[in-house]
Amino acid sequence: MQNIKYDFSGRHALVTGGAQGIGFQISRHFLAAGAQVTIWDYSTEALNQARRELSAYEARLHTHPVDVGDRATCALAAKALKAPLHILVNNAGITRDKSFAKMTDEDFDAVLRTNLTGLYNVTKATFETFAPDSGDKRIINMASVVALYGNFGQTNYVAAKAGVIGLTKTWAREFGRKGFTVNAIAPGFTLTQMVKAMPTEIVDGLAAKVPVGRLGAPEEIAQACLFLASHEAAYINGTTLSVDGGLVG
Ligand SMILES: NC(=O)c1ccc[n+]([C@@H]2O[C@H](COP(=O)([O-])OP(=O)(O)OC[C@H]3O[C@@H](n4cnc5c(N)ncnc54)[C@H](O)[C@@H]3O)[C@@H](O)[C@H]2O)c1
Repeated sequence: MQNIKYDFSGRHALVTGGAQGIGFQISRHFLAAGAQVTIWDYSTEALNQARRELSAYEARLHTHPVDVGDRATCALAAKALKAPLHILVNNAGITRDKSFAKMTDEDFDAVLRTNLTGLYNVTKATFETFAPDSGDKRIINMASVVALYGNFGQTNYVAAKAGVIGLTKTWAREFGRKGFTVNAIAPGFTLTQMVKAMPTEIVDGLAAKVPVGRLGAPEEIAQACLFLASHEAAYINGTTLSVDGGLVG
């Protein structure tokens, strides 16, 4: 899927968890649309692979190994940003799915630490690095459809993603007068590596539950992200955009 619509030249986007999956596609689409992109990801292997795949954009791409759950590292990486920010995409996320009975305290804490506290850490560390004169600043937080209806085996993940939606609404109110919009995206079942590795019959079963009859592509989540980041979306603030083929609706 090619980006033909947006021009982000002169804008700088930070994408957490941008080395693979949805975050990688978001980074690639911003680069293709002319933006300068910084990727923070805790996997150095995935970062190296991303750099190779995005080598055409080398001059506008910066990568930094960062665990979003580690406040001190976020603060250091924020100091090392190459230019003032215009767009922050809080995308890094993990799963540790288990039924409530089997879930350990560590499973619960690890998912909350990355998927909810991670957003706080990154936003807190970078808030003062946003371009002060831009009236078009954007924060886009990755939630999930499951935050809207719950999901068996995902006590930790659903709690974190529901928190992401609450935090998004609050920041929209707090940051609106400072030139920001803050929105969330709630992807449905999206064909990242994790889903591609599942047996075909399971993937077919997931697809059958979606009104449009298929899973989403990471590129389709990226397109929604670019829209929310664009000037044209300047009056959309505090919302959660479902990109799920109609799963929730
Ligand atoms: N794939 C789906 O079906 C789906 C559905 C709904 C929501 N989401 C959300 O979209 C986001 C991206 O998911 P994905 O499917 O692309 O996942 P993925 O596992 O393919 O990629 C996640 C990336 O985040 C990085 N990461 C994980 N924890 C990190 C941490 N603590 N610090 C820094 N980087 C970290 C990983 O190294 C990886 O590069 C997540 O927030 C996920 O919860 C995904």
